[in-house]
Amino acid sequence: MSPIISNNKRPFRVLFVCLGNICRSPAAEGIFKRIAHDRGLNVEVDSAGTSGWHQGEPADSRMRRSARHRGYELTSISRPVRRSDFERFDLLVAMDDSNYDNLREMASTKEEEDKIVRMADFLDRKDYDHIPDPYYGGADGFDLVIDLLEEASENLAQEIQDIYGPQV
Ligand code: 4NP
Repeated sequence: MSPIISNNKRPFRVLFVCLGNICRSPAAEGIFKRIAHDRGLNVEVDSAGTSGWHQGEPADSRMRRSARHRGYELTSISRPVRRSDFERFDLLVAMDDSNYDNLREMASTKEEEDKIVRMADFLDRKDYDHIPDPYYGGADGFDLVIDLLEEASENLAQEIQDIYGPQV
């Protein structure tokens, strides 16, 4: 499929951000990559954590298992958010309000602040205003994360497609 954002333009760059970068944001990265690719969007996708607690680790095995059951292989390695991310990425997508507030504190200009959004704002369903942290809970929490991220990713991909024009 031809890219929707035409070949002579650079990719639209999206960074998903959670606390540890081992559960929610690696799942968002894997899910959004697939959805964007299926739509032919020219995107670059990455994920990071507001903490460096799990730096260098693969995604949590429970998150990977849940994602694998839904057809997604999560391959990212945890890293903390860097200052340079605010220049490189067009959109920084926070999983919850704490991630959002931490990113806002890191931003150094209004332009950088304006790149920060909440993943839950792309949900149609109104029963969640954030992507709940599944780390200390059971398997249901990981499946819920996938449900929410699939819906939000479709809507985010649609918005990017709407902004960046019709399919070429
Ligand atoms: P994440 O989940 O932010 O979705 O990656 C967590 C991972 C690790 C911890 C908390 C949340 N932790 O406390 O180590």
